[in-house]
Amino acid sequence: MTFTPAPWPRKLRSQEWYGGTSRDTIYHRGWLKNQGYPHDLFDGRPIIGILNTWSDLTPCNGHLRELAEKVKAGIWEAGGFPVEVPVFSASENTFRPSAMMFRNLAALAIEETIRGQPMDGAVLMVGCDKTTPSLMMAAASCDIPSIVVTGGPMLNGYFRGERVGSGTHLWKFSEAVKAGLMTQDEFLEAEASMSRSSGTCNTMGTASTMASMAEALGMALSGNAAIPAVDSRRRVMAQMSGRRIVQMVKDDLKPSDIMTKQAFENAIRVNGAIGGSTNAVVHMLAMAGRVGIDLTLDDWDRCGRDVATIVNLMPSGQYLMEEFFYAGGLPVVIKRLGEAGQLHMDALTVSGQTIWEEVRDVVNWNEDVIRPVENPLTPQGGIAVVKGNLAPNGAVLKPSAASAHLLTHRGRAVVFEDIDDYKAKINDEDLDIDETCVMVLKNCGPKGYPGMAEVGNMGLPPKVLRKGVTDMVRISDARMSGTAYGTVVLHTSPEAAAGGPLAVVRNGDMIELDVPNRRLHLDIPADELAARLAAWRPLPDQPTSGYAWLHQQHVMGADTGADMDFLKGCRGNAVGKDSH
Ligand code: FES
Repeated sequence: MTFTPAPWPRKLRSQEWYGGTSRDTIYHRGWLKNQGYPHDLFDGRPIIGILNTWSDLTPCNGHLRELAEKVKAGIWEAGGFPVEVPVFSASENTFRPSAMMFRNLAALAIEETIRGQPMDGAVLMVGCDKTTPSLMMAAASCDIPSIVVTGGPMLNGYFRGERVGSGTHLWKFSEAVKAGLMTQDEFLEAEASMSRSSGTCNTMGTASTMASMAEALGMALSGNAAIPAVDSRRRVMAQMSGRRIVQMVKDDLKPSDIMTKQAFENAIRVNGAIGGSTNAVVHMLAMAGRVGIDLTLDDWDRCGRDVATIVNLMPSGQYLMEEFFYAGGLPVVIKRLGEAGQLHMDALTVSGQTIWEEVRDVVNWNEDVIRPVENPLTPQGGIAVVKGNLAPNGAVLKPSAASAHLLTHRGRAVVFEDIDDYKAKINDEDLDIDETCVMVLKNCGPKGYPGMAEVGNMGLPPKVLRKGVTDMVRISDARMSGTAYGTVVLHTSPEAAAGGPLAVVRNGDMIELDVPNRRLHLDIPADELAARLAAWRPLPDQPTSGYAWLHQQHVMGADTGADMDFLKGCRGNAVGKDSH
């Protein structure tokens, strides 16, 4: 990819606020001087917005204010002018009804935060699941030079000598309690071992996946994704990123130069190699929509199908992000893909170098954590996209987290109309269900929940767990936490709340899942399915005002990234009218 840097010096957009001697520029400059900035800082140097998702209620990003100080140091060193700006922060573990419902709201707010203010470049300080895509979507829609700095994962958890993976062990311990294999007191004791330091989930969950996607897309410096939050090298990375964004502004190196179709294809393959979260599918589709790249679910299947999962991390494997970093981190994985002919080597990165130039000399220090391609965790990783009369627009499944014997399965549907119906019935010993059944959950998609909650990996009934069974086929229009596992078909599109075929599945219907042939079939006659769909009516209980209403009216399907229809595309960063 050839990139020609813009000439420097030249007038930057921030000079529309701060350059010259007019009444308005004196007004803007004068007010900012109340922070004690000397006059010569307004001489036309790049002003860099450090967009910070720090929040006490986003604990995964709780250390980002300290980290921002290192970013600022780097910006000052490179001759820029840093301004730290707090932005909408959606915590995965706190926000109700679902952090996902607020990804688009955050992206909208942050897009306008960038466009409406004097920034020439942006450092995206992110970490917890939704913060990474929301800021990247905003930056893409503004197309202003931007670099991602993630907060990094937490240190390994340990309980009674064994690794404890964020989320992954929450689900495991919870199922063990239900099966009578663990006491409630032991569960409480384990709680203290789960989060040992600042940082994001220590598994290859959605946060680590999205950090990896940012790096694989070329939007973060090489090596950024895996450095633990509390490792001193995380702070070095922040400072180096601060230095780099100043040069990116001078060169006018923008997201649209980096986030190309080739870059997305690279990232999809990286997702397969790391056993990344299914959530990456909706986020990457939405990000591609913001830069005008035609990325589809079929691209996910096409690019990921032949990629072996080589990163041995929970939830698919055994280790955690700390070990991934010590093994060499994402650059080793990208190098392996390059050597296997599965990488667009000349894709540009924020460093100004190609992705191959960034990784060609790295070394793998632990071949049990990052496996050789000949000895993978799963020969065909990636995200499988299944289609059929139950999911005409597609549904996704993560083979590396599924049970091999369930990837081809025919079973009787046990239907839950929504998550409350599931909760009311699942522990009922009289529920007519066994391990051969297919659990079907409706009305948890982008419109339905609303906000596409992470409930697709619904827990198994206790009477099945007590038999020692730990997996069943589950199908829904929901998402699943990136830390979760199982033979779980997600993002079924169109969703039930939009009148998709999922809405008309009934108890006792037979369902066929055939992942090798990418098929998901509701085994009822076509005229019966048509009659049920014709009789379907939307649920009456809709939000009638506020953001939930806006979201429900405008959110698109999971198969296109669940963005809002009116937010798709790049709206640029032209400076608007002054109001004074
Ligand atoms: Fe925030 Fe996992 S809950 S990173």
